[in-house]
Amino acid sequence: MTGLAIKGPISDGDLTLMQDAGILIHDEKISTIGPYTSLLANAKDVEVQELKGDHVCLPGFIDAHTHICFAGSRANDYALRNAGKTYLEIAKGGGGIWDTVTQTRKASQQTLTVRTRKLANRHLKNGVTTIEVKSGYGLSIEEELKILRAIKEANETISTDLITTCLAAHMVPKDYQGNAEEYLSEISTSLFPRIKKEGLTNRIDAFIEESAFSSDDILPYFQKAKEMGFDLTVHADQFSTGGSEVAVRFDALSADHLEASTEKEIELLAKSNVIATALPGASLGLGCGFTPARKILDAGGALAIASDHNPGSAPMGDLLTQAAILGAFEKLTNAEVLAGITFRAAAALNLKDRGRLAKGKLADFCGFHSDNYQEILYNQGNFKPCMVWKKGELVFDK
Ligand code: NIG
Ligand code: FE
Repeated sequence: MTGLAIKGPISDGDLTLMQDAGILIHDEKISTIGPYTSLLANAKDVEVQELKGDHVCLPGFIDAHTHICFAGSRANDYALRNAGKTYLEIAKGGGGIWDTVTQTRKASQQTLTVRTRKLANRHLKNGVTTIEVKSGYGLSIEEELKILRAIKEANETISTDLITTCLAAHMVPKDYQGNAEEYLSEISTSLFPRIKKEGLTNRIDAFIEESAFSSDDILPYFQKAKEMGFDLTVHADQFSTGGSEVAVRFDALSADHLEASTEKEIELLAKSNVIATALPGASLGLGCGFTPARKILDAGGALAIASDHNPGSAPMGDLLTQAAILGAFEKLTNAEVLAGITFRAAAALNLKDRGRLAKGKLADFCGFHSDNYQEILYNQGNFKPCMVWKKGELVFDK
């Protein structure tokens, strides 16, 4: 998909489809991509892996928003929601995010590492070769550090790349009720320098919502993060608006959710460099409307699609299925959906080395047993890759 724009609509006709292609890999990267026979004729001293039968190769998928480092389950929340309670009502009643915080605080770093690794490996088998993972179920300096370290440890022992984000601003912890300002100031003063020192992440996220933090709460927090050189991302406009405005104001890499965004927010995002990340898994988990992805693209915005995999609002954790479903509901072309889980997702993470099958990019790709790329989204996620390569290495072979 070389040459496709990072912003705005894309038609399937814009896709570059290469028949009988080969990929030459050197040093974890794609060194050439082109007709297989001429690649083979010109290459010397190469180890050849020839795929038998028809295969479609796509760039490894990039899931730019997950919360897969947690303990416990929220199956009970899910049942309560389906019985009529809202996500916010459950949160106010002591369930929701706080329930996962309680369970995650009880878990050891080792337990969290093992669980994160397991979930990441599940994504890898579905073709996801890069996964963003947020903290946010610790909500104290030491507990957030434990989670960030667990993600780092998991990353060191699996094939897929985990990109860590600090979401200490996920909700106001119980012991700081009514005192968001003090909590955030403590996090930015004491946790940010430790994150930097240990090299745990260069990304800061905040949940701007009535049940979490107001825009006013987040302004000084983001100011501090920006001064310290962190990249920013925002949980924005999930139930009420305000978050995307903050994202644009701080030139955040992405504004994620956007289910409640109106024309005003869509316009604002489209004019900015902020990537709009749709999270269809949260819409499916909560049984509510989807992010207005079509409108965002038509306004000239950049759309990424991520799973939001988390124990509360998005327990499914299947990026391809969710992206395909969003495509059907929002009328997105195959190219727009695939861009949303590849190079536009890479842009949301500020990763320039992946997301396309092109010379110089990481050799991250997946193969589907088919002669038609359209089959992939047509099967709405019920057609998984048969092979996955990460940095040129075959890491999954069904
Ligand atoms: O992106 N919206 C806030 N955070 C997560 C939900 C986390 C949870 O419910 O545990 C989300 O949907
Ligand atoms: Fe989220």
